[in-house]
Amino acid sequence: MCGIVGYVGREEAAPILLEGLGRLEYRGYDSAGIAVCTGKQLSVHKAKGRLRILSDMLDGGRLVKGCVGVGHTRWATHGAPSDVNSHPQVSRSGKIAVVHNGIIENYAELKAFLQEQGVPFTSETDTEVVAQLVEYFYEDGKVDILEAVGRCLHRIEGAYALGILCADAPEQMIAVRKDSPLILGFGDGCSFLASDVTAILRHTRRVAYLDDGDTAVLTREGVQCYNYLMQPIEKTVSYVDWEIDAAEKGGYEHFMFKEIMEQPEALRRAVFPRIRDGEVVLEDLSLTNKYIRGLHKLYIVACGSSYHVGMVGKYNLERILRLPVEVALASEFRYMEPIVDEHTLVVVISQSGETLDTMAALREAKRLGAKILSIVNVVGSSIARESDEVLYTWAGPEIAVATTKAYTTQLAVLDLLGLYLSKILGTMDAAERRTVLDEMLLLPEKMEKILEKKEDIQYFASRYFNHNSVFFIGRNIDYALGLEGSLKLKEISYIHSEAYASGELKHGTISLIEEGTLVVALGTYGKLFDKAMSNIVEVKTRGGDVLALTTESRQEEMAKTANGVIAIPDAHPMLMPSLGVAPLQLFSYYVALMRGCDIDKPRNLAKSVTVE
Ligand code: G6P
Repeated sequence: MCGIVGYVGREEAAPILLEGLGRLEYRGYDSAGIAVCTGKQLSVHKAKGRLRILSDMLDGGRLVKGCVGVGHTRWATHGAPSDVNSHPQVSRSGKIAVVHNGIIENYAELKAFLQEQGVPFTSETDTEVVAQLVEYFYEDGKVDILEAVGRCLHRIEGAYALGILCADAPEQMIAVRKDSPLILGFGDGCSFLASDVTAILRHTRRVAYLDDGDTAVLTREGVQCYNYLMQPIEKTVSYVDWEIDAAEKGGYEHFMFKEIMEQPEALRRAVFPRIRDGEVVLEDLSLTNKYIRGLHKLYIVACGSSYHVGMVGKYNLERILRLPVEVALASEFRYMEPIVDEHTLVVVISQSGETLDTMAALREAKRLGAKILSIVNVVGSSIARESDEVLYTWAGPEIAVATTKAYTTQLAVLDLLGLYLSKILGTMDAAERRTVLDEMLLLPEKMEKILEKKEDIQYFASRYFNHNSVFFIGRNIDYALGLEGSLKLKEISYIHSEAYASGELKHGTISLIEEGTLVVALGTYGKLFDKAMSNIVEVKTRGGDVLALTTESRQEEMAKTANGVIAIPDAHPMLMPSLGVAPLQLFSYYVALMRGCDIDKPRNLAKSVTVE
């Protein structure tokens, strides 16, 4: 979603801003812009479309002079993507420039007020209200820019990460955070601002995370932070220890493909340190056995693919814990009056750790008295910091909008959590747990075997890439897996695709099956294999073309009925979705490739969704 980069230093700012924005492109955006303090004026440049357009317009930034500036990639919420609606938004005198991630909820009311005072507006954005309001407080000359920003913050409601420049104070930048991530970076003789650490990692590894209500003033000499009462505060400086290469393509054509191929390694990182002597070791957790034994239920809350991890978790964890496991879409959770109390463990799953709906659900669950355990990839992200307990997935930076390695590692960590709890609750046969854990250690190898056979999947993609509608069917964990397979396909190839529990076909969807309709039938769950076969026959009888996914041991049997079969190594049923997802990811990838889609940055989608 929107991205922010800011620089205050001695070098020319514009090239640094454009390079930083380039690193945020993966988050999804529709326009970009920068503002640089040039003498006592702000030089503002914006363009709808890809960052390259802006960059070419400015000769890579060389046409803009000045050592203090801020840049933004916008994902439209208020006002269509256009040059004028892009950020930075500028006040009427041109003195104040603002970049903003989030939404100002009471912007209409404030805009009406300012218009009554004669302030003209040029854009349809909520952000322009901030620029105009800051100027409204500033222009009487009685307060300095920091005070004017403070007054503005008292009036605005909603979520915001703001970067603010003032032409009269060209040596500094002001940053503010509420419900939208913002990071400070510390360099030698320079300071940085970013919504995502990847934007500034090339320049510094020393960072600090702003908290809600914090304001920061960035200068060359350093950064002064204030809390919501504008009292000076010290921020803890963290050191980012992963390599920038981890966020680069490294010879692969697409991040998504690179990240699919990185899954064995990511699984090793997520799983191996957490299994010792045949038991799960979660050193990062501080839940007491008494608390765990007092649990009445688990509630998994997440969005998108993370929600699909939760759906697999419902089947797996309910079976081994004998506790109700509810799964809710984070965007629904808040408004459904969920039954949650201190005996509920709310498991929040989020790759980015910044998804606004998920964060709002977390806060609601907390308010209701639940303990929050989050499964997060991005260290130090907002969700991680607001949770009582965090299990990191250690998947490394994920850049492609469509998640792959984050999904796999989330699933592995959720399974580990279930196995861990099952021991304390005494609800799972110890020998079975041991088997699952032994097999978890084999997951990376098995995944490698699947990825080695990628050409087989490429072949199926070439056979089916021009279909316009696809159905994924499966039962139990195969249904949950189908949800993810279907989402992957529609996200990056734009093919209409839906996932159904196979048993539901006959209640409606089967009417859509006609000669040649592609149905991806998932049959990896051994216990329900025969039922999966019956559903495949139903589909075939109506002319459907069935591409099946099953285990090596069932491959032959499946081949008698399905039109095409993808086989994956056998494993404990709990782990089948962890393996089964890889061919589905590859299938989507190759289909999208053959359709000429923008794989890493699919239209209208964002990596980190920080609006409701
Ligand atoms: C976006 C991404 C998805 C992701 C979802 C939830 O829609 O494109 O890949 O699953 O957000 O994100 P989270 O970071 O909370 O897992």
